[in-house]
Amino acid sequence: MSESVESQTGTTAEAVRRAQTAAVDRAVAEFGGSLEGQVAVVTGAARGIGAVLADTLATVGAKVAALDKTWDGADVHRKRLEDAGGLALETDITSEAAIEAAHTAVVEKYGHADVLINNAALVSETLFRPWGRRATLETTDEDWRAMFDVNVFGAVAITRRFVSAMAERGSGSVINVVSSGILSHSTGGGYYAARPYTVEMPYQAAKAAVTTFAFYLAEEVRAKGVSINSVMPGHTRASWFDDTARAYDGVGQTYFMRPVVSEHLLPITLFLAGQAEQGVTGRLYPVPEWNYDHGYGDLSFWQDHDLPEEVERMYARIESAMPPFQRSGLAQQGFDTGSALFVAALGNLAARGNSE
Ligand SMILES: NC(=O)c1ccc[n+]([C@@H]2O[C@H](COP(=O)([O-])OP(=O)(O)OC[C@H]3O[C@@H](n4cnc5c(N)ncnc54)[C@H](O)[C@@H]3O)[C@@H](O)[C@H]2O)c1
Repeated sequence: MSESVESQTGTTAEAVRRAQTAAVDRAVAEFGGSLEGQVAVVTGAARGIGAVLADTLATVGAKVAALDKTWDGADVHRKRLEDAGGLALETDITSEAAIEAAHTAVVEKYGHADVLINNAALVSETLFRPWGRRATLETTDEDWRAMFDVNVFGAVAITRRFVSAMAERGSGSVINVVSSGILSHSTGGGYYAARPYTVEMPYQAAKAAVTTFAFYLAEEVRAKGVSINSVMPGHTRASWFDDTARAYDGVGQTYFMRPVVSEHLLPITLFLAGQAEQGVTGRLYPVPEWNYDHGYGDLSFWQDHDLPEEVERMYARIESAMPPFQRSGLAQQGFDTGSALFVAALGNLAARGNSE
């Protein structure tokens, strides 16, 4: 998007980006110091959220090992990491041999690992490109196996390898990147799913499995100085996002609401990375709520206003038809509220079309 394009609130993309960069700088100053010289391993680090996490960890002086199944199309990022003294490894986390080789490479270069960020994953949009949707009864065993191989068995295998070594040393911090689609709530009676209508099997089943794994493992290794926490990002413009948004736009639909930038994960990631040795452990955090609670802005603060023109047009259109709704004390509208507003906006757009 050109920098002169204005969002609904009249702020330019450039001003939004400047404010977000200032918030990241503040997080780096607040939490980055303790990470200088620490060895941080990030999986799925060639692109998307993982690339931003790896770059920023390098910026704060951490020794970074960036792992990904493929570095195709990520040459510039790879060179930047390597020029900063980091390791960029081709590591498919579904292969025990590849995990072992990555662990050996980290130990040979840095001696040990202090931090592991389990970020590598298939998301629904990369398993079922570009739409990211398959009705649950239409998913095959092969879909479930492909998803669980990476997001569960791969994540468990690499965690087992690195956490065993961390526990032996008596220090370490693990962060799992999971998803808010695993949540359930109760308003006093039985629990109900946060958003079962988003059509996300087998992805959310896999994320639920690895989150539960993290809760139980955290309990077992807390006395050994290893902290294990999980985070749930907002709807983030990762590497696959523009293709999916364009596909929806191409058939006259809207791909939900404007995404946030990957940088919204930085404050909590820098904080949790420094929680080894009986710091915070065994927690699951929604990133937008954590940011809000710690003075790092609400969800809208982190929204991406630097989108390709046709994607920007799609979100500007739905935002222009959105009924006004504010709710204090929340970083974002609850999913049910957000969905109701989204549907109302679609209705407003349709009515506008009819009256024109
Ligand atoms: N983007 C979002 O809106 C969102 C929301 C909630 C959670 N997440 C989570 O964030 C994390 C990052 O996802 P993203 O959205 O940046 O997606 P992405 O596709 O841009 O990045 C995922 C990375 O993981 C790598 N990867 C996939 N399979 C691998 C394997 N077998 N071994 C090693 N690397 C592998 C991919 O090559 C890619 O570089 C994932 O855990 C995802 O579930 C994303």
